Amino acid sequence: MATDQDILDRADVNDLEAIIAIANTDVTEAIHTVEDNADAIFTWDYEKGARPALNKLYEKAKHAQWNGETDLDWSIDVDPEKIVDELQGANVAGPFQWIVDHPESPLKNFGDKEWTELGVESMNWRLSQFMHGEQGALICTAKIVETVPWIDAKYYASTQVMDEARHVEVFAKYLQEKLTGFYPINAHLKMLLDDIVQDSRWDMTYLGMQIMVEGLALAAFGFMYQLTEEPLLKKLLRYVMSDEARHVAFGVLSLKEYYAELSDVELRERQEFAFEAAVRMRDRFLQQEVWERMGVDGRQMVKLLLDTPPDQQIFQQMLFSKIVPNCKKLGLLDASDQWLRHRFEEIGVIQFEDWADTGEEYLEFDAVSQDRAEAGA
Ligand SMILES: [Fe+2]
Ligand SMILES: [Fe+2]
Repeated sequence: MATDQDILDRADVNDLEAIIAIANTDVTEAIHTVEDNADAIFTWDYEKGARPALNKLYEKAKHAQWNGETDLDWSIDVDPEKIVDELQGANVAGPFQWIVDHPESPLKNFGDKEWTELGVESMNWRLSQFMHGEQGALICTAKIVETVPWIDAKYYASTQVMDEARHVEVFAKYLQEKLTGFYPINAHLKMLLDDIVQDSRWDMTYLGMQIMVEGLALAAFGFMYQLTEEPLLKKLLRYVMSDEARHVAFGVLSLKEYYAELSDVELRERQEFAFEAAVRMRDRFLQQEVWERMGVDGRQMVKLLLDTPPDQQIFQQMLFSKIVPNCKKLGLLDASDQWLRHRFEEIGVIQFEDWADTGEEYLEFDAVSQDRAEAGA
């Protein structure tokens, strides 16, 4: 069985030095190449609907296409500070309150100006990482079209390729035209995307992307959508979420069938991969690049973020509210003597195990059909 050293390249999940050593040194690179070790698979079995749930998802996706250029109103003026006010709410420190109160806090002299600046940078950073993650999804889904052996899944995945192109496009446009441009990819996120693309096993693309990365994105988009009243961002997020809910469902529906057939040893490898992905995503939310840009001590911030007691980390934990129930539905929590359950306990996210899984949630999220019905189209 793999050790944490094998899985994470460090023996202790919270090893501060190892975490901060992972930094993006290629911030000016324009092209990044990753070896894709998977086989491209043809299938001669063209029986459409052999997997009814995937077929239903595909039919739904064909009707739910939208156009980022014409369905969103790009003439709207955006005030980033107003969005930050909405996101921060009454307590500007929000998830950093415990750190502010700490005697060695690098944030203790923050006034209104610094909090607003931090809010704006954090938002730019977060939307930038979403954009990079969307490109990861674009590449992963194109890979799934090639590698999955089922025709219904190839059909569905092809619609997701289009969805992801649209997502990259709208996030890039929002960042470039309405905010102040974007941050390079975070090194923890980049490592995860590289691992997903490099893996030779077709289901690992789904597990890494549809279950883990997109599960987290769906939760994160949901928070931002609920808090902001900025009309362009709100509609953009609503449309993206309605696609993402299908994508996560695609992962759950496909893997549920496949994982029922796997041996304990094979399931353990999937558990380890899910855990690695969870840790990489937690690490990315330490937002090292933002502290650097703000001129505060990034090392100390990462240390205090790791030290923050679990009951003060509600926001970070909520990001896992879709992932954990989906892992449970796939049988990944309790296989191999509950290995992944114990690991999720350690990182403080197991409490979501009985929240709704997202196998069907896409039916409620259908923004495009709702808007068309309202417009009488
Ligand atoms: Fe997406
Ligand atoms: Fe997606």
